[in-house]
Amino acid sequence: MAVRAGNDTVPRVPGSAVFGSARDLQRDQLATYERAMQAHGAIARLRVGPPRLGFEFDAVFEPDGARTILSGGSRGYIKDAPVYHEFTRLFGEGLFTFNGDDWQRRRRILQPLFTRQRVQDYVPLMSSWSDDLVRLLGNSRDDTALPAAAMHYTLNVLGSTLFGEDMSSAGPVLQRAVPLINAEAAKRGLAPVRLPPWVPTPSHRRTARAQRELRSVVDDIVHSRDGDGGRDDLLERLISARDPETGQGLTPLAIRNEALIFLGAGLDPPPNALGFTLYLLGGHHQVQQRVRDEVAAVIGDAPVTADDLPHLRFTSMVVDEALRLYPLGHTLLRKATADNDVCGHRIPGGQIMAVSVWGLHRNPRVWSDPGEFRPERFDPAVSPDRDPYAYLPFGGGPRTCIGMHLAHAQLVVAVASVVRSLTIRAPDRRPPARAGLTLMTGEPFRCSFEPVA
Ligand code: HEM
Repeated sequence: MAVRAGNDTVPRVPGSAVFGSARDLQRDQLATYERAMQAHGAIARLRVGPPRLGFEFDAVFEPDGARTILSGGSRGYIKDAPVYHEFTRLFGEGLFTFNGDDWQRRRRILQPLFTRQRVQDYVPLMSSWSDDLVRLLGNSRDDTALPAAAMHYTLNVLGSTLFGEDMSSAGPVLQRAVPLINAEAAKRGLAPVRLPPWVPTPSHRRTARAQRELRSVVDDIVHSRDGDGGRDDLLERLISARDPETGQGLTPLAIRNEALIFLGAGLDPPPNALGFTLYLLGGHHQVQQRVRDEVAAVIGDAPVTADDLPHLRFTSMVVDEALRLYPLGHTLLRKATADNDVCGHRIPGGQIMAVSVWGLHRNPRVWSDPGEFRPERFDPAVSPDRDPYAYLPFGGGPRTCIGMHLAHAQLVVAVASVVRSLTIRAPDRRPPARAGLTLMTGEPFRCSFEPVA
């Protein structure tokens, strides 16, 4: 039935009388969204916590709604929801959570550091770290090596590109602290009632300790730079960046916060993205062989270079398809600043809107056989005119992931390098996923890696 805009008629997910959908969301956020999509279609309203004490939000599952919410940047919809308050409290203010002019100024300073062109400079680093990745996976004696090896690769790529640092001493703190802080932000972001963070619960104490450790590691890295100049990496560029209009640089606190945010945002999704991609390849041997054939034809045994990347078209489609099935940024949250129409429904100003990328990417009204792992669907010859808001692994509109080109290149380099040397074996089934701040595996990735015969 067509719904006339103008009425606040968003269908409600019933949930429990007291907690609404809070428990379902905490237990299994992804399945809760899928059920809401199946029952209600394009949009559904969920309540978290008791009426009037908790909060409500609208989950959106179709491209038109995603476009309305995301395409205007900070105009009409802003990043303002409990999870962002938590993120700001834990990491400080910065690009990820700023709105309006603050966001625009910061993005203007940082954007030139992340263009496709700039990222090409980092491909040799990625390529050399991918040798380590192949060695770690190839030397593993059992099928549990993938998560640690993928984290090692991500840490080193991020460390060498962002900070120009060998991350071996900071690595253990980062690997412990970043996931812990992210998990706390995700948990509190969906909690119907939140204790103040100064209440000394075990989880608050753990998080505070992780925060202190993380700040101290980042402070050491930033301080080790004071005045040495001469390097050419992202941290150096952050320190010397000037707003083209005002000529102003960033304050020391802003640099520390931004570095923390880049560690939080840049360290969390790529290892799991690589894990999901390699696991899927492990269960799809024909696809894996096609990647191997492409890599052999394009680069042979030589290291992957920036010039090779545009020619690794099928490998890139494999990464795209893995990110469709497993979008690390599974939910994009915004708050409407004024009354608006979304998917034919009137939305009141102040309403929290959640673009469920997980739902959108698995929506049978948008994708044929959405549960299938089929990289060919990303061949422009097969689907030339896809709605850009149907596929949002890096978000959409002006606030798309600033690290998108870096992340995509690092995934393609890693997949090409691993598949060229190793045969991956994993069960032929979709790995289970669960929602943290970003998407995580529901169980440890178990794949074996053997030298290519
Ligand atoms: C596979 C890897 C990655 C995925 C899937 C991913 C996904 C995303 C998504 C979906 C958003 C948009 C969030 C929103 O609109 O609410 C985002 C934003 C962001 N990402 Fe990534 N990301 C990845 C890697 C990275 C890396 C490597 C970095 C750092 C170098 C990074 C830094 C950021 C930052 C700073 C933002 C906020 C941008 C802004 O609001 O202007 N991400 N990311």
